[in-house]
Amino acid sequence: MPASFLDATTLPALLRAAHQQPGIPGTPGNRVPVWFMRQAGRSLPEYKEVRGEGTILNVIADTDRATEITLQPVRRYGVDAAILYSDIVTPVWAVGFGIDITPGVGPECEEPFSSAADLQRLRPLEASEDLPFQAETIRNVVAQAGVPLIGFAGGPFTLASYLVEGKPSRTYTKVKALMFGQPDLWHKLSDVLADIAIATLTAQVEAGASMVQLFDSWAGALRPEHYTEYVLPHSTKILAAMGELGVPRTHFGINSGELLGLMADAGADVVGVDWRTPLSIARARTGGRVALQGNLDPAITTGTWAVAQTETLRVLADNDGHPGHIFNLGHGVMPESDPGVLKQIVELVHEEGSC
Ligand code: CP3
Repeated sequence: MPASFLDATTLPALLRAAHQQPGIPGTPGNRVPVWFMRQAGRSLPEYKEVRGEGTILNVIADTDRATEITLQPVRRYGVDAAILYSDIVTPVWAVGFGIDITPGVGPECEEPFSSAADLQRLRPLEASEDLPFQAETIRNVVAQAGVPLIGFAGGPFTLASYLVEGKPSRTYTKVKALMFGQPDLWHKLSDVLADIAIATLTAQVEAGASMVQLFDSWAGALRPEHYTEYVLPHSTKILAAMGELGVPRTHFGINSGELLGLMADAGADVVGVDWRTPLSIARARTGGRVALQGNLDPAITTGTWAVAQTETLRVLADNDGHPGHIFNLGHGVMPESDPGVLKQIVELVHEEGSC
C-alpha cells in the first residue's frame, strides 16, 4: 500500500476506516464514515428528473447525466463517498454480449450463455475504447465531489448468474447446473469475467477511483465448499490485481453469513455484511483481519425516523467502537426509501459513531 494511503492525518474517513486492521496502526476515536449502496437512484426525486425513459445503460453512457446522478446523493446526504453511477453489467454490455437492463426487472439477455461457443461473445474489454464514458464520468466526479469515489465491478457468480439465467433468478438453477455439470466451461467463463472485471476496475482506478467494491451479491446462494471451489479463485484473482494498484478493496454479498471468512480470504480489506448477520458475529467470522461495512436493514429506511434512529444506534453499538467500520445498509437503498430518513442516518452516524 503506498505510504500516502496510510497517513491517518490526511486520509478521508472512508479510506482510513478501510485500513483499520491489525498490523496497521489504528487511530481510534475517529468518526465512522457512511455511504449507501444504491445511494443514487429512484428514491431521489432529483434522480427521476434527469433519468428519463429507456435503458439505464444509455444514461450511464451519457457522462453529463452520469456525473450529475453520481453527485446527487453526495450533495443531499453529505455521505463520505461517491459511487460511480454505472451497473455491474455495463462492461459485458460494452463488449457486445447482448444484455440490457429492463426497468423494474433487472438485467436480461435475449440469448443467455449456454455453451462454449458463447465465450466468443465475451471478447476482452478494452476499457478506453469500449467504456470511454466511464473514465470521463469518474474524472468529472472526482473534480467536484470532495469525497473519495468508489469504483466497482460485479463478482463472477453474480455476473455469470445474469448471463446464464438470462434474467434475475431466485433459485440460480441454470447457473448452478452449468457450474456443477460443466465445471471446465464454468471456470473458463469465470476467468473471462474476472479479466473483464480487472480491466474495468483498473480503468476506474486510473481515472481516479480511490477504492473498489466487488459486488458478488448473489454468491450467498452457494454453500461454502462450492464457493471455495467455483468462485473464490476468480474473486481472488480480481482482488489481487486491485491490491497491485494499491487501492482498498471491499467484497460484498447478500445472504453471505456463512461465506464471510472466505470473502475476506479472497483478498479483501473490507467485507460488506448484509443485515442478517450482526457485525459482532461478522467480526468473529472474519477473525478481525478486515474492516466491516454495513449493515442496517434497508427496509428500515422506508419507515419512521424513530425506528431508524434506534436501529442505526443498534448497528453502531453492535460494532462497539471497533476500528474499521464503514456504516452502510445491508443491501441497496430501495425505491421506497425515505431520503429524509437517509439524511438523518448520515447525521446520526457522524455524531455518534466512533471507530
Ligand atoms: O448508487 C449506486 O450504488 C451506484 C450505481 C449502481 C447501480 N447498479 C445502478 C442501478 C450499482 C453499484 C449497481 C450494482 C448492481 N446492479 C448490482 C450489485 C448490487 C446489488 O444490488 O446487489 C446488481 C445485482 C445489479 C443488477 C441490476 N441493475 C438490478 C437487479 C437492477 C434493478 C432493476 C430495477 O429496475 O428494479 C438494476 C438497475 C439499476 N442499476 C438501477 C440503478 C440505479 C435502477 C434504476 C433505474 O433503472 O433507473
